[in-house]
Amino acid sequence: MSENRIPGVDDGTNASAVSTTQVKAEAPFDPTTYAELEEIAARYPQARSGLLPMLHLVQSVEGQVTSRGIEACAEILGISAAEVSGVATFYTMYKRRPVGDYHVGVCTNTLCAIMGGDLVFERLKDHLDIGNDETTDDGKITLEHIECNAACDYAPVMTVNWEFMDNMTPESAVQLVDDLRSGTEVHSTRGPRLCTWREAERVLAGYPDDLADEGPSAGPASLVGLNIAREQGWTAPSVKQARQSAAEPDAAEGDTTADKAEGSHEAEHQESAAKVEESGADAKHEDNPANPGEDEK
Ligand code: FES
Repeated sequence: MSENRIPGVDDGTNASAVSTTQVKAEAPFDPTTYAELEEIAARYPQARSGLLPMLHLVQSVEGQVTSRGIEACAEILGISAAEVSGVATFYTMYKRRPVGDYHVGVCTNTLCAIMGGDLVFERLKDHLDIGNDETTDDGKITLEHIECNAACDYAPVMTVNWEFMDNMTPESAVQLVDDLRSGTEVHSTRGPRLCTWREAERVLAGYPDDLADEGPSAGPASLVGLNIAREQGWTAPSVKQARQSAAEPDAAEGDTTADKAEGSHEAEHQESAAKVEESGADAKHEDNPANPGEDEK
């Protein structure tokens, strides 16, 4: 590949290269968007750490990662367009072809697949008359099969603009996309109203839409382990016990002089356990060691 060619920043029809001459021929961003890109970069001690949210902002404005978006990010961060392009073409959440109003993902990873994800995906392809990573003619739905979203306890799982739709069936999936296309207000099965993909991309860029607190923080299936632990009176090992187990498993139960040195860790553990009891299910998000068996899904 020649030096002045950038992979994957064309008009989105494929991942072929486009010359930098073409890139620079595009009109620059409007001043407001450019200022917001600068604002994101300024949030970080090292400006280039802001590249990922900056690319989300580009997508929120352009509907995809465009050549001028790449140029703007490169200019602000003082890096090359090829470096920005390298990031944009590596992560699957960045799109190089236009995305519809709703990005609909169907998890076809192992668990979801055997629980019906493959059937859901096939039904949607037939119903929408599009293939993977394609958009309906009305520009409403982009369909993509996605990898595990760490929501396997609700398999088969779909996402709409990265909001979860749990325990889907081919029938409920068809109803979902029909509702989205007709403009019916749709909520994630976990609560929040579904916004458009561009709106969701703006949130990912770091501009909240205040919908984050709609719906529960964790559903019943994700809390099964926590509830069983409470019923059984189980607690996670303290830091001291965990270290002892790792160092010499047979002595883990023993009480040595090291206990005194580790007393403060034990106190921390007791305090954390008490906080879990007080705060209920939401404590799962605090990565509390007293949440045995809790699976952050
Ligand atoms: S396999 Fe689908 S969410 Fe994990």
